[in-house]
Amino acid sequence: MNILGINGSPRIGGNTDILLDRVLEGARYEGARTEKAILNTLKFSPCQECKEVRDDGLCLIEDDWLPLSEKIEEAEVIVLASPIFFGSVTAQTKMMIDRFHCLWRAKYILKRGSKKKKKGYFISVEASQREDFFDNAKAIIKNLFATIDTCYEGELLFSGISHKGGILEYPDALKEAFRLGERIVS
Ligand SMILES: Cc1cc2nc3c(=O)[nH]c(=O)nc-3n(C[C@H](O)[C@H](O)[C@H](O)COP(=O)(O)O)c2cc1C
Repeated sequence: MNILGINGSPRIGGNTDILLDRVLEGARYEGARTEKAILNTLKFSPCQECKEVRDDGLCLIEDDWLPLSEKIEEAEVIVLASPIFFGSVTAQTKMMIDRFHCLWRAKYILKRGSKKKKKGYFISVEASQREDFFDNAKAIIKNLFATIDTCYEGELLFSGISHKGGILEYPDALKEAFRLGERIVS
């Protein structure tokens, strides 16, 4: 099984990064192949709403988003991790999502056939205790997953975690993340 983890946090070694690593570790333990993309290290522009767009669902802008989108296409499982920023996903995550607009158009407007289904999981952390922030982020992630033919299979959401590495003080959360990785594969 080929699993792609995507970290949308700018904080490498931060809470979502740690959780994502645990999920991928659990998946590797069960024999999966895993890869992690860190959006903040990629150079890609936000969607430009290009006047001319391709009908095959591919974006015209040639930057680091293109190879990432190929990896997403090839993966059987996507684990997308983003902390809550201002009640939503991070800008890095949203920028990646918006670039799928061409695919959205091909799928929903041009009714191009859908591709193989994959499984998707969402990981998020917030400093507050606001359920509505997670609901907001989940709605965005579900919208993306529908566009990339991915079933929203599960989530790991943790509230009240603020400082870098704060999640390490919650061993149960780390175990839960590892177990999710195992479960994804089995
Ligand atoms: C720009 C910014 C905006 C944030 N907005 C929120 C927010 O709206 N609600 C919240 O609960 N936490 C918010 N936080 C806190 C982060 O979600 C929290 O610190 C999280 O643990 C960061 O995860 P990371 O270490 O993976 O980046 C914000 C943090 C930053 C830097």
